[in-house]
Amino acid sequence: DLSLKTVLRAELGEVEGIPLTKPICSTWDQVWKFKARPDDLLIATYAKAGTTWTQEIVDMIQQNGDVEKCRRDTTYRRHPFLEWSLPESSGAGLELAEAMPSPRTMKTHLPVQLLPPSFWEQNCKVIYVARNAKDNLVSYYHFHRMNKGLPDPGTWEEFIDKFMAGKVLWGSWYDHVKGWWKAKDKHRILYLFYEDMKENPKQEIQKILKFLEKDTNQEILNKILHHTSFEMMKENPMTNYTKELQDIMDHSISPFMRKGVVGDWKNHFTVAQNQKFDEDYKKKMADTSLVFRMEL
Ligand code: A3P
Repeated sequence: DLSLKTVLRAELGEVEGIPLTKPICSTWDQVWKFKARPDDLLIATYAKAGTTWTQEIVDMIQQNGDVEKCRRDTTYRRHPFLEWSLPESSGAGLELAEAMPSPRTMKTHLPVQLLPPSFWEQNCKVIYVARNAKDNLVSYYHFHRMNKGLPDPGTWEEFIDKFMAGKVLWGSWYDHVKGWWKAKDKHRILYLFYEDMKENPKQEIQKILKFLEKDTNQEILNKILHHTSFEMMKENPMTNYTKELQDIMDHSISPFMRKGVVGDWKNHFTVAQNQKFDEDYKKKMADTSLVFRMEL
């Protein structure tokens, strides 16, 4: 099949020192000038921190637990991916966002300093989700293997080094989580952790409900919990990315809904890799009050 073979691996450029794909770099002016509206909701994450999961929870809340309404389209059409675009289709995320009636919910992986300023000007609500570095790295590695829209990850060993150096798409994980953590003191940001969501999803969903100024009953809350479990989302074509982007994502290499657990890093890091990573981590995270749990 020609169409499969002609999809080339993405190349990275840079915006303000942050590695971004060439299509994002070439549409950057439009991304930066994006006009947020006051009732926009933004879900921001470092890639692979639990974005899709959070998107499904938010949609279930917004649709009052109506599963059928949440099946109206795939995740990225329900919540435009702000900066994302692929070659030959100019500004896909932007186009979807601009065409969407309010109130909109959107997704971004941009580091805080690259967020289009209109989001701050309009005082938009942002839900940020962070995941511990090691699990985030493992998930990102497997995602690079299966997704041709991203650069070739190289070997696991090579990818660890690139991740530590921040030489990966969307830049340094360390700066990303720290930057958004700092921003939460000045802006309307709900800062959540993947580990907390795994440990007590009900409690974290309740935090989101409160942040969105929504109320719900136990029955709907239980429905949200059930519908957004890893097992349900893995089987749902509207959330597992099997319905579209088949020429970009190869789920036979590694499924988008891969494992969905805390602590899978233990199956990947050697003792030496872990030691090196920990030493570097301590230095990079010395200047923040942010604390992550690497296991439950
Ligand atoms: P793993 O690769 O560790 O399995 P994102 O949506 O930001 O790309 O994040 C994807 C990661 O979140 C993947 O992690 C995926 O399996 C996990 N994930 C998706 N839905 C989930 C859910 N309902 N519960 C737990 N983890 C989920």
